[in-house]
Amino acid sequence: MNQFPKGFLWGGASAASQYEGAFDLDGKGLSTADVVPRYTSEQRQKYAHPFEVSKTDALRNMNDFTSNYPKRRGSDFYHRYREDIKLMADMGFKAFRFSIAWTRIFPNGDDERPNEAGLQFYDRVIDECLKYNIEPVITLSHYETPLHLALKYNGWSDRRLIAFFTRFAETVITRFKGKVKYWITFNEINGISMTPYTGGGSFIPAGRDALQVGYQAAHHQFLASAHVKELVEEIDPQAKVGCMMAKMVVYPETNDPADILEAQKQNDLNNFFADVQVKGKYPTFMQHYFSAHHVTIKMEPGDKEYLMAHTCDFISISYYMSYTVSATAKADNVGGNLRTAIRNPHLEQSEWGWEIDPQGLIWGLRDLYDRYEKPIFIVENGLGAKDTLTDMHEIHDQYRIDYLRAHIKAMATAIAEGVEVIGYTAWSAVDLVSMSGSDMSKRYGFVYVDVDDFGNGSYNRYPKDSFYWYKKVIASNGEEL
Ligand code: BG6
Repeated sequence: MNQFPKGFLWGGASAASQYEGAFDLDGKGLSTADVVPRYTSEQRQKYAHPFEVSKTDALRNMNDFTSNYPKRRGSDFYHRYREDIKLMADMGFKAFRFSIAWTRIFPNGDDERPNEAGLQFYDRVIDECLKYNIEPVITLSHYETPLHLALKYNGWSDRRLIAFFTRFAETVITRFKGKVKYWITFNEINGISMTPYTGGGSFIPAGRDALQVGYQAAHHQFLASAHVKELVEEIDPQAKVGCMMAKMVVYPETNDPADILEAQKQNDLNNFFADVQVKGKYPTFMQHYFSAHHVTIKMEPGDKEYLMAHTCDFISISYYMSYTVSATAKADNVGGNLRTAIRNPHLEQSEWGWEIDPQGLIWGLRDLYDRYEKPIFIVENGLGAKDTLTDMHEIHDQYRIDYLRAHIKAMATAIAEGVEVIGYTAWSAVDLVSMSGSDMSKRYGFVYVDVDDFGNGSYNRYPKDSFYWYKKVIASNGEEL
């Protein structure tokens, strides 16, 4: 029997830059995601991260309207939010996680006044959720930064972004006061150390090291997160603020103590991001890591105290796979969207080569709960796969059901062992554009969107088999899997 707490927040997730489309409507400004094209498979070989662009490319792409930019189109949630939220309600969703595009509210990021049309869009989305008793769970920054801030300030590597972001956060927290109970600050904040552009709109200037740029930008995001916590306490004290990270469960390749130490180091590097936001301070092992990698974090007087004074209420995570490392071998023959690892022969892979490991979720949840003793919200977990739409408009995605079932069972095990998990929003509610490859054909949703990688299609919505399965899971509060 799977025991989930009463009021458990079952639902699905999304991100503005992958879902909304309407990238230039009603006053929205360009974001860093809007200038990333979908590369051909040949072009992809050239890029370590096909979701990043150089500054030169960003400047060129912002005026390019002929290449393929799927994130500009998303799944057209901007115009179809009523239909989509109705489908979520049909599934019985208790929560819908989405992000607010900063550029809809402050088109350039450093504007003095917000764009009323952008605020009105989220008024409508939130009210639509509340109409069905769906809890809106809002991410303030999900892999997009106003492009203007990237070009003018080099994104989050510049401390001035804290003030711009705080203005944005204050605007939306005030506007949606009493309606939103869960705020999430930065999606997969640990991503910034691996991809400073996607995580924080920062290019790597010549002669600068990506780690230096990424960790300095992370420091600014930590402070911005603390500001959000302070704002929520003042404006809407009923609401809760969560940090969010990609929980990267790392295993040693062998029982060689050197491999075990390497895995421990990498798990520490992952938890570092929650350490700062939950415990309120930089852990000592990080000082050692920074000096070994020639990283110097520029802090101002008062930063440490401020971080300590405004820690978050819950930890939210994404979990898709585990990673295997060794002290000696190169970890580059398997991986997910952010990092690579060593192939683990015990695990099966998704079509995209992501290693599927439900037991790793138990490990990850226990690790986080032992370390922080804070409620955990799983806000992303799912399988990217190619789906086939039949002539009858059906989608038989048993593989997705199998993946989700195994992970939900793992979550139930962790809960039975004492971990406090407050909700689960699968990635994704409705099909959307993938973050890493800008593919529409890498689908995650319970609802199929009829559009291809090039924007051809009706954008009609069709429930998949997983839609009906998840509906039963929710109705039985996780008993019927
Ligand atoms: C997470 C991101 O890393 O994984 C999402 O928060 C993303 O934005 C998801 O879509 C799945 O990754 P991808 O690259 O397959 O879309």
